[in-house]
Amino acid sequence: MPTTETAPTLALDIHRVRAQFPSLAQTVNGHPAAFLDGPGGTQVPQRVIDAISDYLRRDNANTGGAYATSRNTDAMLAEARAAMADFLNCGADEIVFGPNMTTLTYAMSRAIGRDLGPGDEILVTRLDHDANVTPWLALEEKGVTIRWAEIHEENCTLDLADLASKINDRTKLVAVGYASNAVGTINPVKAIIQLAHAAGALAYVDAVHYGPHGLIDVAALDCDFLVCSTYKFFGPHMGVLFGKREHLQRLRPYKVRPLTDAVPNRWEWGTLNHECIAGITACVDYLADLGRHAHPQAPGRRAAIVAAFEAIHTYEHGLMERLIAGLNKIPTLKLYGITDPARFEERCPTIALRVVIQEANQTASQTPLALATKLGDRGLFTWDGNYYALNLTERLDVEKTGGFLRIGLVHYNTVEEVDRLLAALEDILGS
Ligand SMILES: Cc1ncc(COP(=O)(O)O)c(C=O)c1O
Repeated sequence: MPTTETAPTLALDIHRVRAQFPSLAQTVNGHPAAFLDGPGGTQVPQRVIDAISDYLRRDNANTGGAYATSRNTDAMLAEARAAMADFLNCGADEIVFGPNMTTLTYAMSRAIGRDLGPGDEILVTRLDHDANVTPWLALEEKGVTIRWAEIHEENCTLDLADLASKINDRTKLVAVGYASNAVGTINPVKAIIQLAHAAGALAYVDAVHYGPHGLIDVAALDCDFLVCSTYKFFGPHMGVLFGKREHLQRLRPYKVRPLTDAVPNRWEWGTLNHECIAGITACVDYLADLGRHAHPQAPGRRAAIVAAFEAIHTYEHGLMERLIAGLNKIPTLKLYGITDPARFEERCPTIALRVVIQEANQTASQTPLALATKLGDRGLFTWDGNYYALNLTERLDVEKTGGFLRIGLVHYNTVEEVDRLLAALEDILGS
C-alpha cells in the first residue's frame, strides 16, 4: 500500500482506451454506437473477454480438487481476490464474491439482522438505489425500525442535518450510497461513516455507481462493508463485497454444513462463476494499465489504480462540463441533481433530465422512454425510468410519468459523442 495516494494531474489517451473495447466499434442504423448507458453497465476491454474465454478453454474446474486445472482455479480465485484488494485497498481475505451487489446485500442484511429486533434502528436514504434499501427494510419483519434520511430536492443532495438527527444510540447500521445512479450526486460518505461510528453503528456503503468514476479506499473510509459490481467498471457481471475481517468472522452467515467456516469463503455459497472471476482480475489490470500509461513510475498495482482514477476524473469532468453546459442551453430540458459548476466535485457525469414544456399535459413524444427510443435509433444509448432509484423518483414525483432520461458518461466516451447527443436532443426537441 503506498504511503501517499496523491498523484499529479494525469492525462488519459482516449484513442488507446477505445482501441481496447471491441464493442465500441459497432454501428446502429448507420450511426456509430455511443454507449452513454454506463450506469446500467459498462463495456469490457478485450483482455476481459480473453481472460474469461481462456479460463473456460484451459481450466474450467471446481475448486479444491487434487489435479492441475482445479489447482489453477484455486490460484485464479486467489489472484482475483488480490486484484480486488488492490482495487479497494483492503486485505484479500476481506473480499467476498457473489452474483451481484443485490444478492450480497440481502445475504449480509439477513446475517446482520439475526442479532436485531424491536428497539433497534437502521438508517437508509431517499437517494439510494433500492438494493441498499429494501434488504434493510426486510428487517422490519423482525421489529427493526427503519428511518429515512431525506434530500435537498433542489439539487438532489443528501440533507446531512436530517441524516445526523436520525442517528442515535439505537441505530445499528447506516446504509448509504457512495454516489447516486440516478442523478450523479457523490455523498460525503466518510463523514457519514464517522457519524455512524460515533453512535456505535455499522456503516454499509453501496459503491456500485461510484466504482467506475473514483478511487475507492476502504481503509481511509473506515467503512464496515462496501459493495460494488464489476460490470459497472469494465468487468464481468459479478458483485464484490468488502467486509472488515472482524465482521466477516463474527457475524454468522446462513450457509450449508460442508462449506468451510474460513473467511471469506463462508460468505460464498455454492459454486461461484469462475470464468467471470477470471475476468475480474483482467478488469482491475486494465485500470492499472491505464494508470501506468498515464504515470509510468506508479509503483505497484494499487498506485497504478490511483493514477488511473486521477486521469479518469480529469477526463470525465471535462466531458461532463461540456455536456451540462450544452444541456443548459436547451430551454425545454430540466436537469436534476447538482448543476452549479462550483459543486461539480460532488457529482459524477451521470445526468438525469426531463422535458418540461407542457409538463401538465405531457405528450407521448416527450416521455423519457420516447426520448430514449429516438436517441437509441440514432445510435445514442441512454436509459429511461427509475433505474431502481425508486425512492427518489417517487420523492420527486416523476415516477408516474416515466422517471428521467439518464445520460451516463464514463472514460471511454468522447467529446464527439457528447456533441452528437446535444445535436440530436436539439433536433428531436426542435430547439
Ligand atoms: C447504485 C447502485 N446500487 C446497486 C445496484 C445493484 O447492483 P447489482 O445489479 O450488482 O445487484 C445498482 C445497479 O444498477 C446501482 O446502480
